[in-house]
Amino acid sequence: MCGIVGYIGDKNATPIILGGLKKLEYRGYDSAGIAVIEDGCIELRRDVGKLTNLETLVKEEPLSGTIGIGHTRWATHGAPSAKNAHPHVGETGKVVIVHNGIVENYLELKEELEAEGAKFNSETDTETIVHLIERNLGSTGTLEEAVRQSLLRIKGAHGIVVISSLEPDKIIAARIGNAGGVVIGYGEGENFVASDIPALMEYTRRMSFLESHQMAIVTKEDVHIKTLDGKEINPRVDTIAWDPVAAEKGNYRHFMQKEIHEQVRSLTDTLSGRVDFEKNQINLMTLNLTAEKARAIQKIVITACGTAYHAGLVGKTMIEEMSRIPVEVDIASEFRYRDPIIDEKTCVISISQSGETADTLAAMDEARKKGAMVLSIVNAIGSQAMRVADGYISMQVGPEIGVASTKAFTAPLVDLYMLAIYLGDLRGTLSEEKKFQYVHDLRIIPELAGECIRREESVKKVAEAIKDIRNILYLGRGINMPIAYEGALKLKEISYIHAEAYPAGEMKHGPIALIDKEMPVLAIMPKDQWYEKMLSQVEQAKARGGMLILVASDGDENAKNLGDHILWIPDAPWLLMPVFTSIPLQMLAYHIAAIRGLDVDQPRNLAKSVTVE
Ligand code: M6R
Repeated sequence: MCGIVGYIGDKNATPIILGGLKKLEYRGYDSAGIAVIEDGCIELRRDVGKLTNLETLVKEEPLSGTIGIGHTRWATHGAPSAKNAHPHVGETGKVVIVHNGIVENYLELKEELEAEGAKFNSETDTETIVHLIERNLGSTGTLEEAVRQSLLRIKGAHGIVVISSLEPDKIIAARIGNAGGVVIGYGEGENFVASDIPALMEYTRRMSFLESHQMAIVTKEDVHIKTLDGKEINPRVDTIAWDPVAAEKGNYRHFMQKEIHEQVRSLTDTLSGRVDFEKNQINLMTLNLTAEKARAIQKIVITACGTAYHAGLVGKTMIEEMSRIPVEVDIASEFRYRDPIIDEKTCVISISQSGETADTLAAMDEARKKGAMVLSIVNAIGSQAMRVADGYISMQVGPEIGVASTKAFTAPLVDLYMLAIYLGDLRGTLSEEKKFQYVHDLRIIPELAGECIRREESVKKVAEAIKDIRNILYLGRGINMPIAYEGALKLKEISYIHAEAYPAGEMKHGPIALIDKEMPVLAIMPKDQWYEKMLSQVEQAKARGGMLILVASDGDENAKNLGDHILWIPDAPWLLMPVFTSIPLQMLAYHIAAIRGLDVDQPRNLAKSVTVE
């Protein structure tokens, strides 16, 4: 979703802003723009399409200044076009703004502003904000106050950054609600603003994060953070430890492929510091859970979106199996509008890679309002989902750039597995032998993940063979049923092939009517307690002429006889099996999309962080 970068200091702001925006490309966008204050005037360049178009424009019509802001836009109001791209300048040409979010009352505001004579140059909701600021600047006299007054008028969730040629020594940034983060980066004689950490990593590691209803007044020497009602805040400054090299593509063709390969390391990092094999213990200290609190939990509700939701579905089986707490899994966008039955004996766990997904954050707010304990499993350090929770588990997978989530899917599977042991242990529902077995089983994860990844060439051959399919049905059962959902989601989001997923037992209730020679079936059938059932399902599909692609355990003779194509996986304990059944499906989706020559890392219409509803 939209990316924001701002700079103030002594250097030329243009390359810094363009470089920062490049680091945010993974979020998805359809146009981009930059504004700097040059010789006391606001200079603006905007273009549709990729950042390279904007870079070309900036080469043709250079602009330089020591303060500026830039933006990558993902259209919500008004088509992707140069005039709708941010930044937006007001009528006086003296105030310019970039914005992430939706002005919910923009029609009402636009009408009011137009009645007062305002002329709109774009179809965006954002433009209302800059008109409001200009008007308030007239009456309040300072940019800070004008921004504050304007924010009080707009409804919805927002991240905004504003500069003005009338006060060229400061950037004003503000956050209301959960429309994405606002990060302040601290330099020496220069400071930065961005919507997300990677934009600033090249320049500084010292960062703080605005909370909702806070604004930052950033000069080249200082940062002042205040609440919207004017109270000064002493910000916490975090030092971010991510390795910037980790955010680069290296020798891989796409970030997604790199991230699939990184899973041996990310899963090792997921375990490190959390598992004590000597003492047979799981330590999840950041959850802030005591035995007393754990015993008081009567129900767990997992809320998340997309891939994170699928991880939650796997987590349900793990937690129920080991801790015997009933678990519901809810799509966050549904949960928030359903008046869910939760109370102080409920523990709500949100899962999010970005930690900034608007629906997931709103679900957390809803849970908090109802008095539940709120925990999160989150990747982006310092993100809202990490900050607002009573406790969290950090995924520790580093930045995930590809829009299609891979390493941020397998890590929370392992986090949920460890959480299940931890809860079972704290609540005393796990015998010592079982606990030993479950803890012990964690050892094999990195090795088996590596084994799955080493089989990439054979997965690629399957991808070559089926690359032209138009539809496909994914089937799974039990703990691998969500992996069917996840495999289908991966394929559709990057290859645009229509993929549907079903719990295999549901086939006979309708979807089996779809199967014929034109409808390939991908069945996940490792040797586990659902194997026989899956086998009979696969045989039924075979009888109807469907092409069969099977995810099967090494050495499975039935699979060999039935399957047209087989993605072999090593044997593993059933509760951890989803980690290994998901990897070949990630590779299959990746190679099909790559062979089809598609934009794997930034698929059409998708954003990495979905910070609007
Ligand atoms: O950042 P989050 O984990 O909260 O994001 C949730 C979904 O938007 C995300 O998983 C999405 O489904 C991915 N594109 C899946 O690959």
